[in-house]
Amino acid sequence: MPRIAIDPVTRIGGQLRVEVEVTDGVVSDAWSSGTAFRGLERILQGRDPRDAWLFAERICGVCSGVHALASVRAVERALGVTVPRNARLIRNILAGTRYVQDHVVGFYHRQALDWVDVTAAASADPAATSRLARSLSDWPDSSVASFQAARDRLAAAIRSGQLGPFANGYGGHPAYTLAPEAGLMVMAHYLRALDWQRTPTQITTLLGGKDPHPQAFLVGGMVLVPDWGGPRPAGSEHPQQVDRASPSALGERGLAELVGLVATVKAFVDEVYRPDVLAVAGHYRDWAATGQGIGDYLAYGEFPEDDTAQPSLLLPGGRIVKRATARTEPIDQAAIGETVAYSHYTYGGDDTASKHPFDGRTDPRYDGPPLPYATLQGAARYSWVKAPRYQGGPMEVGPLARMLVASVEGQVDVRAGLGRAFTTLEASPDLLYGTIGRTVARAIEAQVIADRLGRWLNDLRAGLAGGDLAVADLGRWDPAAWPSEARGYALGESPRGALGHWVTIRDRRIASYQVVDATTWNASPRDASGRRGALEEALVGTPVARPDQPVEILRTVHSFDPCLACAVHAVGRESGGAIAIRVRKGGAG
Ligand code: NI
Ligand code: MG
Repeated sequence: MPRIAIDPVTRIGGQLRVEVEVTDGVVSDAWSSGTAFRGLERILQGRDPRDAWLFAERICGVCSGVHALASVRAVERALGVTVPRNARLIRNILAGTRYVQDHVVGFYHRQALDWVDVTAAASADPAATSRLARSLSDWPDSSVASFQAARDRLAAAIRSGQLGPFANGYGGHPAYTLAPEAGLMVMAHYLRALDWQRTPTQITTLLGGKDPHPQAFLVGGMVLVPDWGGPRPAGSEHPQQVDRASPSALGERGLAELVGLVATVKAFVDEVYRPDVLAVAGHYRDWAATGQGIGDYLAYGEFPEDDTAQPSLLLPGGRIVKRATARTEPIDQAAIGETVAYSHYTYGGDDTASKHPFDGRTDPRYDGPPLPYATLQGAARYSWVKAPRYQGGPMEVGPLARMLVASVEGQVDVRAGLGRAFTTLEASPDLLYGTIGRTVARAIEAQVIADRLGRWLNDLRAGLAGGDLAVADLGRWDPAAWPSEARGYALGESPRGALGHWVTIRDRRIASYQVVDATTWNASPRDASGRRGALEEALVGTPVARPDQPVEILRTVHSFDPCLACAVHAVGRESGGAIAIRVRKGGAG
């Protein structure tokens, strides 16, 4: 039984090794290994909780800002802070823009090469490509000349031998069955998306001060000064608000600029990204049956739509058990625990125990094979990712989980988006459960959020114009007012799925801090009872035509859009796995 190791898996965030066993041409077992230790949770101990978000957001520059948001929310909950309406809206716009950018980049720059043979696309007929693109949308830049130019760029890169991101591809692999003109269309938009990224980055920079790693968060709200005339809001005299803010973003001119940028972001989603995803998914419909995984889905929910203690959410939270979509199950954060039985950590006494994040520990202990290793086979512990579990069971999180939960909960925009997709694809909802379904779900979600961005901006503008200028509540800023011990958590989402931060504050300092990221769930190793994580489970059953070119494995891995930087949340100078074996030409790109 051949073993295939892909290490490092490229076109993801962070360091991931995937090892699979292939029996009769099909994956029969799988191991997902985070190969770098980090340790942000340890770095946070002893610090001022008001500073935590600045460190926590350094967990990842791809999932930029999502850990800042989770961190301020956890501390706000601990201290009993409710943020003003304007801060909620700014946070929604910042986070929502990130989801849309991440999903678009995820499809073109991290996933497309799994489905598109670049060498075939570089010889496609530009006229046929133009006809195809014009049949799918009204995007203005679908001329023959435009696709000819894109084809010339691809062909020149291939001729020069300087392939850059297309190096080590699996050109000619039999699993690439997409028509060349569809491939050229996607690759032309791959190039276009590189430029388009500038627009969401401008939005996050205007409202966040910087990208990646926005600087405008604050425990209590945001550090942006409304430029709307009238008196300054009470409590806005904190020095950060003067020095770090972008004074024009919350003025008439700034908001008008943001409206234009959001329209540009949305047009690309409507007319390029979503049609391309559906074109690729329609062709690879057979990938609905592959990569289905455990079938238990978890979404905490995201985008608060009001300012109550239990706000309604644009994307509601809930669980779906065994793909039963008659109803969702509620979430109890007390039911979450992490085990380290197969991870390079120790809980001291009993490493088979499950620890709730309030009681969690991040004590590294490498107990894998000596470096450099050729295989993880036989290793008792094999990953720097912990194994989070809900009521003891592994869960899949991410856009697919969110779309399933939202659809069951009756979210009208999600239902409409999914319905249109199923009509276009002439497919049943079962399409969603497999490898291609995760990619479709991501595009539907990007559409729903891109549609909402403009409304959040309108709401923000209306509030400011009506004289509501508060962006932060600093009533709990002074540590003298804090209790001697306080605990808080934030259950929200990130582009890659359910994200939780848990903080315990003792004597005005962080006593403990635990993060359970989306990819911690999805790329989880086995737990104490030996159950595989979501990605491992999804890989079982995947066909592999050529063990030396395992593009099928990459398809399922990339369908989760994993981010190991987030999953492990710690810093290692060298990845242990990166010096272990590589499949020759391992990883296209
Ligand atoms: Ni990340
Ligand atoms: Mg953690």
